[in-house]
Amino acid sequence: MNEDVLETQARLSSLGLLASGTAHELANPLSVVKSGLEYLDKGLERVRADKGLSEQAREELGECHNVVAEMKEAVQRMLSITAELRLAVRQDSKTTECDVRDVVEKALSLTHNMLKYKAKVEKQFKHSSLVFGDESKLLQVFINLLTNSAQAIAESGIVRIESEESDGFVMVKVADNGCGIKEEHMKRLFEPFFTTKPKGEGTGLGLFLVKKIVESYGGDIQIESKVGKGTTVQVRLRAIAGR
Ligand SMILES: Nc1ncnc2c1ncn2[C@@H]1O[C@H](COP(=O)(O)OP(=O)(O)O)[C@@H](O)[C@H]1O
Ligand SMILES: [Mg+2]
Repeated sequence: MNEDVLETQARLSSLGLLASGTAHELANPLSVVKSGLEYLDKGLERVRADKGLSEQAREELGECHNVVAEMKEAVQRMLSITAELRLAVRQDSKTTECDVRDVVEKALSLTHNMLKYKAKVEKQFKHSSLVFGDESKLLQVFINLLTNSAQAIAESGIVRIESEESDGFVMVKVADNGCGIKEEHMKRLFEPFFTTKPKGEGTGLGLFLVKKIVESYGGDIQIESKVGKGTTVQVRLRAIAGR
């Protein structure tokens, strides 16, 4: 591997540490906010139960209750994002098996903001499937693929994720009807730093890392694409038998 790649990997892993450290630091104050909101909610309920309240006061307390409910939901979302972020960048985790379906769901939730305004997401999992691989690494695989699909869709499109099991492999397809890939770019897709995106949007490391991760677990990756029609990426991972 050349020095640029090693340097970028070192930079990415220190960014990873920073991200997981930040997520870790946020978890505690967020928990304080969450229990504070629960306390407020109970207090509001108690005051509202007072028979002597005017109609107007009761209405205002009802509004407050709704606001608190929204805030509780928002805090819950922040807590799950920090939990997932910590998982996504965890360096020390060395799980050997994980459920592809869970990993895809987590990747979807982490890329939700990128996808929600422009893509309809369709999923088809025949069953849950255990495969060989570390959860945080496989999460990175699907985050990278979903990010590419989101970036390939200009305004509105479809991202479809399918999985099926055959011959000891779990195949997961991530397909989009985005811009597609030019024929002359097809053989360069896995080169580190190969990107057609403007600076700041693409590093050219996504598919390079995806291939490296998938192959390290005995799997493989294939890409089919047509300009103007879309792209299908198929990742095969070794299934753990009997599931
Ligand atoms: N789903 C896709 N649709 C269209 N082009 C894609 C898709 N996935 C990858 N590509 C092409 O492959 C290139 C390399 O992808 P990647 O390694 O993830 O790097 P990056 O996304 O940072 O450019 C992209 O710049 C793009 O040209
Ligand atoms: Mg990418």
